[in-house]
Amino acid sequence: MNVTKILLTALGLITFSLTSCSQNKKTESMKQNDNKAIVCYFSATGTTEAAAKRIAEITGADIYEIAPETRYTAADLDWTDSLSRSYVEMHNRERRPALKDSVTDLSNYSVVYIGYPNWWNTHPTIINTFIEANDLKGKTIVPFMTSGGSNIINSEKELKEQYPGLTFGKGLLMNGKSDSEIRDWTKQFK
Ligand SMILES: Cc1cc2nc3c(=O)[nH]c(=O)nc-3n(C[C@H](O)[C@H](O)[C@H](O)COP(=O)(O)O)c2cc1C
Repeated sequence: MNVTKILLTALGLITFSLTSCSQNKKTESMKQNDNKAIVCYFSATGTTEAAAKRIAEITGADIYEIAPETRYTAADLDWTDSLSRSYVEMHNRERRPALKDSVTDLSNYSVVYIGYPNWWNTHPTIINTFIEANDLKGKTIVPFMTSGGSNIINSEKELKEQYPGLTFGKGLLMNGKSDSEIRDWTKQFK
């Protein structure tokens, strides 16, 4: 082997080990972001917010409020008034109430919990605004809900129909759930 060949071989070995080292680092950092979760919630009167905080605490996930551009007043939430804001927004399901933040940076998360109150046995249309404003393809979206008694089944069914290109995990109605029930439910998304 002449000197040039020895030098070229040595250079090759150094390049190989540097590349594989940086790839290992990349794999390591990707692993750290695997299934990183965020709890996004909309709450008009605080109940879903409290539920979201419990999920975030139990899972160690980040938390983010899906805030409307204009907060809902008590009059807005009067479901007995067919002229109230919530009534009007929910009886034309094409409505997309504006968000405070038009886009949210969810690029670091592979699991996105989305929480909301039950309105007329489904999710408020501001949840549609949020889903459509953000790129959720390839992420696992996990719905959760609080309600006066109705369950989450219809909302989950409608979300799957509205967004066939998205991946949904099994949702949870948070009413009366214990910490261990929440922990058991979230385990499948780790
Ligand atoms: C406009 C409106 C419609 C509602 N519709 C329902 C319903 O169909 N079924 C139900 O069980 N609860 C219903 N509720 C009750 C809420 O789902 C419940 O109080 C929820 O926990 C409120 O969450 P929040 O405090 O995070 O806004 C409704 C409440 C409002 C304001």
